[in-house]
Amino acid sequence: MSIKKKLFGVLADGREVYSYTLKNANGMSVKILNYGGTIVKLKVADRNGCFTDVVGGYDCLDSYVGADGYQGALIGRFGNRINKGKFTLEGVDYTLFINNNDNHLHGGEFGFDKKLWDAETFDGDEPVLKLHIVSPDGDEGYPGNLDLTVTYKLTSENGLSIRYEATTDKSTPLNLTNHTYFNLGGYASGSIHSLELMIDADTYLPTDERLIPTGEMRSVSGTPFDFRTPKKIGTDINSECLDIKLAGGYDHCFNFTGGKTAEPIKRCELYDEKSGRVMSVYTNQPCVQFYSGNFLTNEKYPFKGGYPQRVQTLLCLETQHMPDSINQDGFTDCVLRPGEKYDFTTEYRFSVK
Ligand code: BGC
Repeated sequence: MSIKKKLFGVLADGREVYSYTLKNANGMSVKILNYGGTIVKLKVADRNGCFTDVVGGYDCLDSYVGADGYQGALIGRFGNRINKGKFTLEGVDYTLFINNNDNHLHGGEFGFDKKLWDAETFDGDEPVLKLHIVSPDGDEGYPGNLDLTVTYKLTSENGLSIRYEATTDKSTPLNLTNHTYFNLGGYASGSIHSLELMIDADTYLPTDERLIPTGEMRSVSGTPFDFRTPKKIGTDINSECLDIKLAGGYDHCFNFTGGKTAEPIKRCELYDEKSGRVMSVYTNQPCVQFYSGNFLTNEKYPFKGGYPQRVQTLLCLETQHMPDSINQDGFTDCVLRPGEKYDFTTEYRFSVK
């Protein structure tokens, strides 16, 4: 319906960063940067028609450059962790940048969240922002020139759809996601414990203390990880279960029942009783990392309007392949090969109850 472009800030090397605000006919809007393809603001109506910003983020570019929380950003080449930043592919050993204890996390030092993307807009009933980069052979240690397009679309049905399309000239692990932090009561409304969550997953991946999956796919039955029937996030978040203790809450990969699908289907649903807002997550990806914001403690980078970071006040539902899947037998295939096309879509669709 409308797209507004505005200068957001200037990087240390002089490159300009722009924000693009897409709005649909219902008044829902999303503000996205060409830096990291970062979602800065997402205004969604409650059951009384009042709009609130439901995503975490900062007021200025310096915070997006300096902070380490990946607020709202596109993640790649590999979402989540690769054990010790090492893998072997087609007989060749690769070493990646280490940025999380002794692991590689979210694409490394200058992952896709730190890139300035080429942007193109297409206005209409469903406004679109199309972002493009080429990640060169050797980028952060990964093989192959990767050509990547991410298309954000704001639909007439109040969906924010994100399509990831990529090709490569050498085989490479690839696991793209978006790292937006949500709280349906508003980003500054406090704890996420009262939100109700459904995840269509019958197994999850236990991890070691470095948050690397152990290799086991464990049934959610009888564990704090069973969200097949909607459950308040706070119900089991302080459980004595070892997997919860190791992560300080939820920070786990949930494997969707039946695996990836040809077309996006509803896999998660988040509901806030107070505001009536519902967020349904449609995807054709095989898994989701449910991260309950356990590390939101960085006092140096307050959120928009000076609101301080607080643990478990925002959560991520990062649709993805399995973490460390490049090193683990029996995990989802995360390799994109020459001649293949990577093509996944995730939509966060909003409604009220
Ligand atoms: C990971 C967390 C990590 C966070 C921010 C999430 O995707 O699962 O362990 O702390 O990203 O980097």
